[in-house]
Amino acid sequence: MQTPQKPANLSNNDMKYPTVNTKLIVLLGNPLGHSVSPAMHNRVFAKLGLDYCYLPVQVQPEDLKTVFAGLTKMNVAGFNVTIPHKLRIIEHLDSLDPLAATIGAVNTICVKDGKTRGYNTDGEGFIQALEEEGKISVRDKRVYLLGCGGAARAIAMTLAFRGAEKIFIGNRTLAKAEALAAEINKKIRNCAGAVDGLAARQAETIKSSDILVNCTSLGMHPRNEELPIGEESLFEHLVVADIVYNPHTTRLLAIAEAKGCRIVHGLGMLIYQGAAGFKLWTGIDPLIAEMTEAAYAKIADAPGIIALSDDCAGR
Ligand SMILES: NC(=O)c1ccc[n+]([C@@H]2O[C@H](COP(=O)([O-])OP(=O)(O)OC[C@H]3O[C@@H](n4cnc5c(N)ncnc54)[C@H](OP(=O)(O)O)[C@@H]3O)[C@@H](O)[C@H]2O)c1
Repeated sequence: MQTPQKPANLSNNDMKYPTVNTKLIVLLGNPLGHSVSPAMHNRVFAKLGLDYCYLPVQVQPEDLKTVFAGLTKMNVAGFNVTIPHKLRIIEHLDSLDPLAATIGAVNTICVKDGKTRGYNTDGEGFIQALEEEGKISVRDKRVYLLGCGGAARAIAMTLAFRGAEKIFIGNRTLAKAEALAAEINKKIRNCAGAVDGLAARQAETIKSSDILVNCTSLGMHPRNEELPIGEESLFEHLVVADIVYNPHTTRLLAIAEAKGCRIVHGLGMLIYQGAAGFKLWTGIDPLIAEMTEAAYAKIADAPGIIALSDDCAGR
């Protein structure tokens, strides 16, 4: 066998690959084929020259305990956790951040000195997007939140933590909105109420709100035409956010923008929940523009995604 020759123009420093010293960040979930997080984080690790590697690992619920225990014995600095493990992972953690404990779900874990601590950055990611793109702080604001699923829960609880004056929760299944509002009032402070789906009640609530957030899946590809509220109830004074990110600009956002509202796209929440995790694992502020580019490159192939608007592309 011939002795291999090193190409003249290639030094070992050009070849980036994990070593025994590389810190791993592991994403646990199932399925993970469409996740944008590996692209987002690995791009920024490389750009900042950080010796980290973000690795997606598909895990079945019955294997979660064994896989998690094994990984924490490796050179793992942190985890992301997604569907279906966000609730079940909690019983395997050493400690919980108070916000994650209140929400009852974890999407980010830090491993320090062999101890695991769980966080929930979904709501923080949304609020960061609201501040950056919507140019509005939630403190003392009145927020009307449509929907009551996992994402709505994290957002509503974080809004209460961050000092929103009032959180109105509207949902197709009213009992779920009532239960979430009661939980917020009991666990955090008395600031939440449920809104029934009657058009008159909705319009009245929207009129008295500063921020409207769609946390339902209405308007998501391929049902792009669906709206979570009547378009006549949108007014210029509102900041309108939609956490649906496919299509990039939902019909709700397009109508709101045409009426003069400031709008906040769902992609921002996706980026900033990841950015918060990045900071927790590394202690370093990530490059938001790089993260946005990498995330968008990954999801741009998904059916229904339309070009990023100029205001978002530069972030
Ligand atoms: N931007 C981000 O980073 C981000 C993060 C997470 C999720 N998301 C998006 O947010 C959306 C919700 O996610 P999720 O995980 O919270 O989902 P989920 O737990 O399944 O909740 C879905 C919510 O939508 C409501 N809904 C569904 N179909 C409806 C209909 N036909 N009419 C009225 N209400 C309807 C449900 O009402 P009922 O309670 O009555 O069923 C429920 O409140 C999805 O589109 C998801 O892609 C975005």
